[in-house]
Amino acid sequence: MTLQIKSFEEYKEVYKRSVEDPEGFWAEQAATFNWHKKWDKVLEWNFREPKIEWFVGGKLNITENCLDRHLESRGDQVAILFEPNQPDAPVQTYTYKQLHAAVCKTANALKANGIKKGDRVCFYMPMVPELAIGVLACARIGAVHSVVFAGFSAQALADRIKDSSCKMVICSDYNDRGAKHIPVKTVVDEALTMDCDSIETVLVHKNTNGTVDMSDPRCKWWHEEVDSQSPVCEAEVMDAEDMLFILYTSGSTGKPKGVVHTCGGYMVYTSFSFKNVFQYQDGDIYWCTADIGWITGHSYIVYGPLLAGATTVMFEGVPTYPDSGRFWAVCEKHKVNQFYTAPTAIRALMAQGDKWTEGYDLSSIKVLGTVGEPINEEAWEWYNEKIGKGNAPIVDTWWQTETGGIMISGLGAHSPMKPTYAGYPLPGIQPCLLDSDGKLLEGNDVEGLLCIKFPWPSMIRTTYGDHERCRQTYFSAFQDMYFTGDGSRRDKDGMYRIIGRVDDVINVSGHRMGTAEVENAINEHPKVVESAVVGYPHDIKGQGIYAYVITAEPVADEEALRKEILAVVTREIGPIAKPDKIQIVSGLPKTRSGKIMRRILRKVASGDTSNLGDVSTLLNPEVVDEIKDGALAKS
Ligand code: WT7
Repeated sequence: MTLQIKSFEEYKEVYKRSVEDPEGFWAEQAATFNWHKKWDKVLEWNFREPKIEWFVGGKLNITENCLDRHLESRGDQVAILFEPNQPDAPVQTYTYKQLHAAVCKTANALKANGIKKGDRVCFYMPMVPELAIGVLACARIGAVHSVVFAGFSAQALADRIKDSSCKMVICSDYNDRGAKHIPVKTVVDEALTMDCDSIETVLVHKNTNGTVDMSDPRCKWWHEEVDSQSPVCEAEVMDAEDMLFILYTSGSTGKPKGVVHTCGGYMVYTSFSFKNVFQYQDGDIYWCTADIGWITGHSYIVYGPLLAGATTVMFEGVPTYPDSGRFWAVCEKHKVNQFYTAPTAIRALMAQGDKWTEGYDLSSIKVLGTVGEPINEEAWEWYNEKIGKGNAPIVDTWWQTETGGIMISGLGAHSPMKPTYAGYPLPGIQPCLLDSDGKLLEGNDVEGLLCIKFPWPSMIRTTYGDHERCRQTYFSAFQDMYFTGDGSRRDKDGMYRIIGRVDDVINVSGHRMGTAEVENAINEHPKVVESAVVGYPHDIKGQGIYAYVITAEPVADEEALRKEILAVVTREIGPIAKPDKIQIVSGLPKTRSGKIMRRILRKVASGDTSNLGDVSTLLNPEVVDEIKDGALAKS
């Protein structure tokens, strides 16, 4: 059984043990799983290359631990509880036995279509059970899944397919989301026109009754390939360090990178963190509202909960359909015990008014969680009062795609809570704060750059196809440290508060984006010469996107140009990257070395033009006044 901490005293004791003897501690946790062969060595590492290997020589299959292991003890318990978009549509459930059979059938279908251990399979699907099943089917046979959020554009999908030369893409016909009927397959069709030559098969799940074009000989129906397969599929024996999945995420430079996670460490850490942060008890109903297209869905809808033998809710819809009470209606309907969502959703619902929270029985809720961005105090209080009724602890979970699992967070009711603070590190996690010169900030009541000084089992191993990029991005800023990109404060009691990114990454409605990525998209517009994108405080989204754009020639119809730019960004990345504001300028403030002074742009975008500091060293100080005068009012 996974260790489940039951008091703050116990946390302190376990934490101490976990950092004094990390290898002993994680070996104990790993021993609670089924392995084909035990590891020879718990950990091998250096942060220089970097090289990180956990449970070296160990052999396992993660799906045997998610599924087979539970068949005897809880085969008839619901594993996945699917709540469809339409509130009156039938709920679908998969017991552990049924899920096991569905995964095996799908795995056999993948094999029949030539997918082997190590091959990459791309998913472009809405939140339906087949997405979780497909992902697990890959893991069953040792194929590497790469899930692309189905809100990304054809171009973004094609970029990701090509970067990891996927052999197959699995998609749905359409997606019913809120009141929208979204074509999914046509986006894949378009992506396939963009040199995705590695794709041999397109497996299409019939999710609605919409018509799709199946004329490309690579296209096959999911039901035709899967339904007739045997429900028995022996699991591929994987090395602990074999790749489990790739997940693309944005950084401060260039195109998104494929973060690589491996089988053994990811399994041990997602299970451990799930059980401790959410204090999951047998029989509980757990619901995380994230999309499986992001790491939160991978770790805390699919793997963590299933490893722990939990009942995990998958929700197809949106928080505001058919009305803004949907989350609470679903919590009441399924008697949800742990509810995990993003601050942006909380703020959006809060803005709709309290009446939407009223009249629902939310007494089943034992733990509330938040993830993805800093939570402001007002939203925290609202969540606590209106949803938790002052009775449910809130776990503010800080982590990243790269960390694989939750790093800093309360453990259910067993940790002190302080609004806007994620709190204390989980066992085995050794955070520290550095100043910009790399000096370690000792003691409490300090603020600096958040780094982690010792490996943990689910940490990033590499960026797919470009190990040097991994080193450069995370391990080069400070020697022998993993650098998170976040700024953080440690208060007088040693609790951590995450302030936000210190690099050129912005967080819009919990979606992580590189400003450079958005700039590159904007620059695709033929009339745009140069652009600069910054984040600015936004009441609901956390951060909004503010774009400064230089055009080749004076623009007669600015509104028309703005619309065209939005269309270009939607085409290049997807609607989530559309700028909220576009200011057309004649120049950008630059230093004498030609670097854009983003500090000034951020200030103007935030609506504060009062004190822009010293601009005299700029190459072109005169543009500052123009930018100030043309600033788009704060919304
Ligand atoms: C970035 C990582 C990890 C799941 C979803 C996001 C920000 C994440 C918190 C939190 C303040 C947070 C950080 C981090 N972030 N959780 N609880 N409080 N900020 O994963 O897309 O990889 O983004 O999200 O800035 O670096 P991601």
